[in-house]
Amino acid sequence: MNHKKYQAKPIIEFPERTWANKTLTKAPIWCSVDLRDGNQSLQTPMTLQQKLDFFDFLVKIGFKQIEVGFPSASQTEFEFLRTLITKGLIPSDVTIQVLTPARDELIQKTFAALDGTKQAIVHLYNATSPLHRNVVFQKSQAETLELAIFGANLLCSFAEKYPTTNFAFEYSPECFSQTEPEFALAVCNEVVKTFQKGKNSEIIINLPITVETHTPNVHADMVEFMCKNIHNRENITISLHGHNDRGTAVAATELCLLAGADRVEGTLFGNGERTGNADIITIAMNLYSQGINPNLNFSDIDAAIEIYSKYTGLPVHPRHPYAGDLVYTAFSGSHQDAIRKGITKRTELTKQQNNDNPVLWEMPYLPIDPLDVGRNYDPIIRVNSQSGSAAAAYILETAYGIILPKPLQRHFGKIITQKSDTAKSELSSTEIYELFEENYINKVSPIELTAWHEQRTYNITPTSKDVTTQIFAEIKQNGEKASITGNGDGLVAAFCQAISSHLQLQFEINHYSQHALELGNQARAITYIGLLLNDKKVIFGTGVSRNIVNSSVKALLSAVNIAVLLI
Ligand code: KIV
Ligand code: ZN
Repeated sequence: MNHKKYQAKPIIEFPERTWANKTLTKAPIWCSVDLRDGNQSLQTPMTLQQKLDFFDFLVKIGFKQIEVGFPSASQTEFEFLRTLITKGLIPSDVTIQVLTPARDELIQKTFAALDGTKQAIVHLYNATSPLHRNVVFQKSQAETLELAIFGANLLCSFAEKYPTTNFAFEYSPECFSQTEPEFALAVCNEVVKTFQKGKNSEIIINLPITVETHTPNVHADMVEFMCKNIHNRENITISLHGHNDRGTAVAATELCLLAGADRVEGTLFGNGERTGNADIITIAMNLYSQGINPNLNFSDIDAAIEIYSKYTGLPVHPRHPYAGDLVYTAFSGSHQDAIRKGITKRTELTKQQNNDNPVLWEMPYLPIDPLDVGRNYDPIIRVNSQSGSAAAAYILETAYGIILPKPLQRHFGKIITQKSDTAKSELSSTEIYELFEENYINKVSPIELTAWHEQRTYNITPTSKDVTTQIFAEIKQNGEKASITGNGDGLVAAFCQAISSHLQLQFEINHYSQHALELGNQARAITYIGLLLNDKKVIFGTGVSRNIVNSSVKALLSAVNIAVLLI
């Protein structure tokens, strides 16, 4: 690498800028260029049928302006346009747009392709930057200006030949952001003057960042300069068309909207030449997350990913804003804890909400509600070695109804961390459940309980305990049968005594809790028992049964079995 090969690109001196003090308050006019710029950039461009399907999808999302191609450049593009028009596939509130260079025969073919459509935007472009003028075309400024005016005149005269179509004209000084601002302004003013000689209503001046060469603030200065100085500004739509060479196409588009632009051309997921075009999904969802209606509907983001990937052959990155597979997922323990608290708080607040006055979305680490794009809360919290014990507990609770008591949560957390560390991968909810089951639930080895009954004695003397329980149990240990007996205030205490004296094992119960795993009279109960052993080690066992008494006995036996194996 040798950075001396490069130099800072010239910037515009524009101290009168006002964009830096503004905020966005409404959505721009959107124009999808997926079927032109996006399609042009694909290794395998879309087939006619794929383009028709994609067009249909763009309409469903809510685009009212769609650039459908470059009909003079290829037969598929020409046929696509003819199919849309002749089969009546363009809804009355949608305007198609076509691109053409400033060349007579190509403009003629473009208008022929549009024959019969109710309305269309004809998009004319020529490159205006010094690099293009000097290196690519060997044209002076005057010749470049002349070419733009020539093209604009042709648009006006061809439009007259198709009086049943309502045409709007768009002009792009290609490489606008690398063009001297005064020259770009002069060209655009002359093109506007030419367009205005025709009878056409709308004029769009599109200011492309064909190659992104500056920080977004410089692009915004250039756009504000144009907005402030172009003649007849009130009758012109100023449009943006960003590319992502520096990775800031979305930021540049947003700042250029602050600078006064009215319209945005871009693509879904930022497909397009090289690093792609500005990503309309991100720009629209950024507006949405600020409480602005984007007028585009991404409530089924997975459908957008599916169509996009199928027809472009490109994947959507798992960390792509708003859409990626991992963007509503937290692996870090502290993030998970915060999200869990946020969800609990929101659940409380939403009980009182009404639709006109929804509870504001205020969630740690999640800028939007995943439900808004058709995702759900299930995968928000995922478990790997970076996650805290709360993550596994959250999954057991939400997926299996198992509400771990805090001390068991910490105990199990260590098992989870060890497992995902050795596996060097994330643990699925099934794996988490299986680990829990394997380590705690209904352990029947080495000691198996084959039969038991209890006898209660109710005491009536005021000084004695109300009731004492005695149990008689048959157990099998390593194939050998034994009868054990013990007594205590209750069943669990009686079992403890019987087992502890049979095994000569000292322990006391330091945790006992129980809850139902599901609702209804067939519900299973789960019991958690913690044993504090002589050496201060704590062991947990869990029992699951439709019978609450059995669930307690199974929990105790699980804990004892785990202790026996440990000793
Ligand atoms: O990026 C660009 O400059 C273009 C123009 C043709 C508008 O795609
Ligand atoms: Zn482009």
